[in-house]
Amino acid sequence: MPTDPDAVPHEKPRPDEDRSNPSRRQFLRSAALFTGTALALGGGLELLTRRPGAVSSEEAPELARPARPLGPYDTSEPVTPYAQATTYNNFYELGVSKDDPARNASALRVRPWTVEIDGEVQKPVTVDIDQLQSWFPLEDRIYRMRCVEGWSMVMPWLGFPLAALLRRVQPTGEARFVKFTAVNDPQDLPGQQEAILDWPYVEGLRLDEAMHPLTFMAMGLDGKVLLPQSGAPLRLAVPWKYGFKSIKSIVRITLTASQPETTWSRAAPDEYGFYANVNPAVPHPRWSQATERRIGELRRRDTLPFNGYAEQVAGLYRGMDLRRFY
Ligand code: MTE
Repeated sequence: MPTDPDAVPHEKPRPDEDRSNPSRRQFLRSAALFTGTALALGGGLELLTRRPGAVSSEEAPELARPARPLGPYDTSEPVTPYAQATTYNNFYELGVSKDDPARNASALRVRPWTVEIDGEVQKPVTVDIDQLQSWFPLEDRIYRMRCVEGWSMVMPWLGFPLAALLRRVQPTGEARFVKFTAVNDPQDLPGQQEAILDWPYVEGLRLDEAMHPLTFMAMGLDGKVLLPQSGAPLRLAVPWKYGFKSIKSIVRITLTASQPETTWSRAAPDEYGFYANVNPAVPHPRWSQATERRIGELRRRDTLPFNGYAEQVAGLYRGMDLRRFY
């Protein structure tokens, strides 16, 4: 547990909350994207793996992005400025303050990197991240992201649907859930040198949630290869759930028959559930979820059910009691 002298004894960890909230302070403490740009990315990878020395936002290599009309899953809302999206982060492996992940970015070694896909699949595989990326054409997705702390952003991701990857490994008839495991490198990652959470960070989805076309594996942001602070080289983006579900820096994806335990629900089971769907009508045990502040704006705005994606995803939860904070 963090050793903040003001910390309330037995206070449980929580993903986040606005820095203005004192209880928060108490506790805490391409890729050949699209086509044939491997050469350009090669330069980028060098930047991202160089150590020591931080990788600044300006250094992230540009990715080739064809101009395109908005797709069916995109929001047309203004995108959060890149400089803000890459300096105001939650990534506890790199520290607990919002500016720690950018400052400590160079501690995350993003190459070499492999992703293991195992469990209830017919074709388990351990794949190098660059090979994994070459399996799928990268797509743009402009998604809202809503943190349970009450702030939100609009993120222009580059990546591929998780469903494409899952289809490739062929889930068995027993598969019901997908468990994601993040990087574990206590020697290098400053946050993992402290018992802030049980490391590594793990998250999970039901298989039908994981197969939903909105569920996205991001490798880039705003036309650039993901920076470490954004969850390089591979992160999840599940836009209708609170941000803590969108696990960063994934090294393992395991299909399971039973519901996996997740980092936050293990740390504070009375505060964080498995589903964590954005629901303005149901407060978190300690904070209202009715409104949010879009980063870069002053006024709060109303939070929408399922973060505005109800039309696409509400059907996944038919028959469930959405008045509970899952
Ligand atoms: N993934 C890992 N591995 N470690 C983390 O601490 N924080 C989560 C999520 N993914 C976290 C993580 C939380 S609480 C949020 S709100 C989002 O990442 C923040 O994503 P962003 O920094 O890109 O906005």
